[in-house]
Amino acid sequence: MRHLLATRELSYDHALAILDTAQEMATVSDRSIKKLPTLRGQTVVNLFFEDSTRTRTSFEAAAKRLSADVLNFAVKTSSVSKGESLKDTVQTLEAIGGDAIVMRHWASGAAQQLANFGWSSSAIINAGDGTHEHPTQALLDAFTLRNRLHGTQATGKDLNGVHVVIVGDILHSRVARSNVWLLHTLGAKVTLSGPPTLMPVGVNTWPVEVNYDLDGILAQHPDAVMMLRVQAERMAGAFFPSPAEYTRGWGLTNDRYQTIADTDTLIMHPGPMNRGLEISAAAADSAQNTALEQVANGVSVRMAVLYLLLAGQPGQ
Ligand code: CP
Repeated sequence: MRHLLATRELSYDHALAILDTAQEMATVSDRSIKKLPTLRGQTVVNLFFEDSTRTRTSFEAAAKRLSADVLNFAVKTSSVSKGESLKDTVQTLEAIGGDAIVMRHWASGAAQQLANFGWSSSAIINAGDGTHEHPTQALLDAFTLRNRLHGTQATGKDLNGVHVVIVGDILHSRVARSNVWLLHTLGAKVTLSGPPTLMPVGVNTWPVEVNYDLDGILAQHPDAVMMLRVQAERMAGAFFPSPAEYTRGWGLTNDRYQTIADTDTLIMHPGPMNRGLEISAAAADSAQNTALEQVANGVSVRMAVLYLLLAGQPGQ
């Protein structure tokens, strides 16, 4: 594996290898071993053109736990504001010593362009590109699901037969896309539910079932219901349905939450959560909500990705 750009192109074997390596990383951390020497002398660059709390800090924590140096590149105060191109920016950072570039960009396909146009000799990790993909988010979601369902015996196991419902603003969600492809590769059944206006054209070609009857789906007690963040910033002022309509129809309101409260259905959210819009405080604060567990698992998953890209065997 040379880069991590999209779960759509991740094979079953590579996906399981990342999850199993993440399990080893988590086990080492549980043993209070805070730092491994594995990536000493390597430099990881965090290059974020969009804001982030979880992804940027957990990549930094992951790199530091593997003893890599980390350069956090502040796009807003950089020469990007003077018109410097992505290609020149990345090549400048490589000249300073970057071995891996972790990039979040507002343009769908930006990570592919960097990796495939010969602009960079580094390992490229897509930390979210436009509405396209967010592969490490899907990997940490799968890791969380696998651990919840298989416990400490999770290594080597996939998600065959697991039912995951992804709810909300599918249209703008790179998290939804990455999860659809990865969950499908790992054998899970995926149902998408949300406002028809926020369902992508072409969704009928995805390996999913689309079902607009959210209450009916929740009554089936799926293994997990993944509530997506409503991405108002990508709607260019055209918020339709209105926030109140959205919550009534597609939010995990207190009433809707009662359908799955105290069952085995996990409530997942990639964060940041819009409390009161796509998820009620009661659901967000319930023991069934794995959002913080997902964040914690993100460090192990990102350690695994950095390890496999920078220290794994050639051709793996
Ligand atoms: N889930 C996620 O990508 O969160 P951040 O935007 O905070 O990185």
